[in-house]
Amino acid sequence: MKRQPIPIEEFVTKPYDLWHVQNLVLTSGDFAKGHFNAMTVGWGSLGVMWSVPFAQVVVRPTRYTYGFTEQYDTFTLCAFPKKYAPAVQLLGTKSGRDGNKIAEAKLTPLASTQIAAPSFAEAELVIECRKMYWDDLNPAQFLDPRIERRYPNKDYHRIYFGEIVAVLGRAHHRA
Ligand SMILES: Cc1cc2nc3c(=O)[nH]c(=O)nc-3n(C[C@H](O)[C@H](O)[C@H](O)COP(=O)(O)O)c2cc1C
Repeated sequence: MKRQPIPIEEFVTKPYDLWHVQNLVLTSGDFAKGHFNAMTVGWGSLGVMWSVPFAQVVVRPTRYTYGFTEQYDTFTLCAFPKKYAPAVQLLGTKSGRDGNKIAEAKLTPLASTQIAAPSFAEAELVIECRKMYWDDLNPAQFLDPRIERRYPNKDYHRIYFGEIVAVLGRAHHRA
């Protein structure tokens, strides 16, 4: 899919819809080395920290992708047109530990513009990020009882902040 670089100041999205309805695919690793993995994410944010644009993602340590987000410095967040919803669902229900789910989803990894982590040819939006901070959720600080219920296995997410180094998207992603 043809995507244009979008200056961060002109990037337009509906964040709740992007994360919660459309979902994003988080890909971490190194395209040139052929060592990467991708999984669907629905929880996260976009914003500004330390005066730089950033994306926040949360990864449970039980995910195969976690080994990649720990080992590598960069990741991408990709959004796909509606017709790829089954592929996005597959990346969010199967593990890269058990086989080549990217091939099974018929998605095509390709080099990103600024970072080692790959993007996907079929994506309509690519956000390229470089890790700049991590932290672990601390259950002692959960203020709402609904949160703990999300962790029956106590596999509390690791949080990553990635500086957004490039955004590539379609005309509707640009103001
Ligand atoms: C809609 C949706 C959203 C998800 N959001 C997250 C998330 O934000 N963080 C997370 O750790 N797992 C999330 N998951 C679960 C992972 O995508 C899923 O466990 C995946 O199979 C992990 O793949 P992996 O083992 O190859 O890393 C989500 C799954 C779906 C279907």
